[in-house]
Amino acid sequence: MKLVRVKGGKLLEGDVYIQGSKNSALGVIVASLLSKSRVIIQNVPKIQDVFDILEIIKLLNVQVEFINNILIVDSSKIVYSTLKNPLIKKMRASSYFMGLLLSLFLKCEIENPGGCDFGSRPIDMHLDFFESVGVVVRYLDEGYYLKADKLKATRYRFKNKSVGASINALLLSSSIEDEMILENISIEPEVLQVIEALVLMGVDIHLEKDTCYIKGRVNKHGFMISLISDRIEAGTYALMAAAIGKEIRIHNVEIDHLRYLLDLFDKINVKYKWEKKKLTVYRSKELKGIEIETSPYPGFPTDLQQPLTVLLCISKENSVIKEQIYKDRTSHIYELNKMGANIKIKDNCFYIEGNKRLSSCNLKANDLRGGASLIFASLLADGESKVLGLQYVERGYSYLIENLLSLGADIDVEEI
Ligand code: EPU
Repeated sequence: MKLVRVKGGKLLEGDVYIQGSKNSALGVIVASLLSKSRVIIQNVPKIQDVFDILEIIKLLNVQVEFINNILIVDSSKIVYSTLKNPLIKKMRASSYFMGLLLSLFLKCEIENPGGCDFGSRPIDMHLDFFESVGVVVRYLDEGYYLKADKLKATRYRFKNKSVGASINALLLSSSIEDEMILENISIEPEVLQVIEALVLMGVDIHLEKDTCYIKGRVNKHGFMISLISDRIEAGTYALMAAAIGKEIRIHNVEIDHLRYLLDLFDKINVKYKWEKKKLTVYRSKELKGIEIETSPYPGFPTDLQQPLTVLLCISKENSVIKEQIYKDRTSHIYELNKMGANIKIKDNCFYIEGNKRLSSCNLKANDLRGGASLIFASLLADGESKVLGLQYVERGYSYLIENLLSLGADIDVEEI
């Protein structure tokens, strides 16, 4: 267990450099195995989720080399394997192995994919899609047994938007040669990057708004791709800067992927400027409140709901966040209330009283974004806080502690 000690109350100033996107990396790494060739992926973040997915692909006899931020994946000798491994339970993206193995071998035996714990995270839409193309699905002893004699092309409409189900559908469709039509797919930049990878492998894909037309191909080829920068990492630093940034310059940012955040900043009175790939954010002493809801891209992302909750505690007005994606993504709220916040949860709405001063506390992180928000809250609070559970944060943020130190934070880590 790793404990983070933070002495809060200091203003931060300086530069941070955003890494490649975690969720793009996870999708693209799995997709790359469809090529059964050598693939070069640039701008890959050094985070635990990436290390874990690399361990899983090694179980399929895939060779990997990860030097600096360049990952070389060679799947020319890929073999089928059942995936019963604790790492599958640890991460959500392990569900992509269903689409992958079905695509390559028409079968998949895998443990129930896990992920951050914020309530129920079903995969019914993934399974419903698989069945629509001829896969027989069985669930037994906490594992899935998926098998198909033959895959058939279909026109399929997702009942709701799902990043994971869209990626799984893309992976599987990429091996079906007749035209597939996928309606209401997610259009998150990370999903579009998986599409980019499939196109680079030779798959014929055409996207019109959220309808995707795919003509798959059995023999795909190797390719080289550079990952987009992580919009959630950038957004987390930007939200911190809005509270405690004397001036924080965030580099390697894809501004187009952060429009929802800049809209929010305009509404709550945060000053920022951007040029090319640099976003500079300044703390606001007169933050306004807001009523906002999380929604699929291009809406405000659930992955920034937790740091936004922290920021809104110190605004001059009350706010309401309606969490529409994961209504139980609330573990940070109980911890923030221990620090002196006053946030009430009713159904999936969080009523946040503004004008609060947070005080230091012993805190416990339960998930990735929640953990990052508690570190943020500790930087904001008076006195020394301790945040237990840095390992969750390390799943998705590389160099968070180093970056905060370089911005002038009083922070260190202790192994306990
Ligand atoms: N859903 C279903 N059935 C399904 C699939 C999803 O009901 O079969 C529901 C979910 O319960 C949720 C909503 O649909 O209410 C959207 O879930 P989605 O499938 O889009 O999420 P995901 O693919 O499991 C990815 C990211 C998450 C991010 C969500 C939403 C990865 C590896 N994970 O998860 O990222 O919160 O999309 O944008 O890409 C994070 O990075 O911290 C993280 C949790």
